[in-house]
Amino acid sequence: MPADAPVITIDGPSGTGKGTVAHLLAQHLGWHILDSGALYRIVAVGAQQQGISDQETARLCQYAKEMQASFSTEFEGSIVLNGEEISAIVRKEQSGDRASVIATQPPLRAALLQRQHDFRQLPGLVADGRDMGTVVFPDAIFKFFLTASPEVRAERRYKQLKNKGVNVNLTLLLHDIKARDDRDSSRTVAPLVPAKDAIIVDTTSLNVNEVFAKLLQWVHPVIKA
Ligand code: C5P
Repeated sequence: MPADAPVITIDGPSGTGKGTVAHLLAQHLGWHILDSGALYRIVAVGAQQQGISDQETARLCQYAKEMQASFSTEFEGSIVLNGEEISAIVRKEQSGDRASVIATQPPLRAALLQRQHDFRQLPGLVADGRDMGTVVFPDAIFKFFLTASPEVRAERRYKQLKNKGVNVNLTLLLHDIKARDDRDSSRTVAPLVPAKDAIIVDTTSLNVNEVFAKLLQWVHPVIKA
């Protein structure tokens, strides 16, 4: 039964490195991976392409249920929506911002729930997002919540985008990160908060490998890779 597959959740705001760490952990354990933020981003991008506005909740939900989306399992790998490769546009800052606007709508969150549960397959799932440990997989065996100061997260994102050749302004990036944090943390449904039983990892002064090593200290005694 898919429901028996163990789940490890990694939640937190953007720029904490959770996507990279989630992929490292999934690869290490040989488990499946769910990048739930990508689902919200795909709905944001796909719905916009269809002329569906942020306020048309019923149409957004229908779109979210019917869209044919597939992901490669690599970190930042290809994303195909209804036959079209859309990973570059999905990973743009604007798509993340639009995703966080539509993600405030409870019916849309509900419409994406089953799709997220479908990723739960043996031998296990590493799920990355905002509400993985609180709402989507409350029975996860480990719930990690990664944090870092907004300044450090903006700096990381700045370097990432620069490396991709994208021209960005650090001050604007910091402003956007804070705005997105506020929106994600203050929404009434599934806000960005750690689960009561979450293990909080402050990544401000850690690199990705150090964060990964910290997670393994928890995971290894329980799960043998
Ligand atoms: O993680 P990522 O930056 O790709 O997520 C984009 C946006 O999607 C987030 O800012 C958040 O508003 C929304 N999201 C969410 N719940 C999740 C994952 C992402 O609301 N589980």
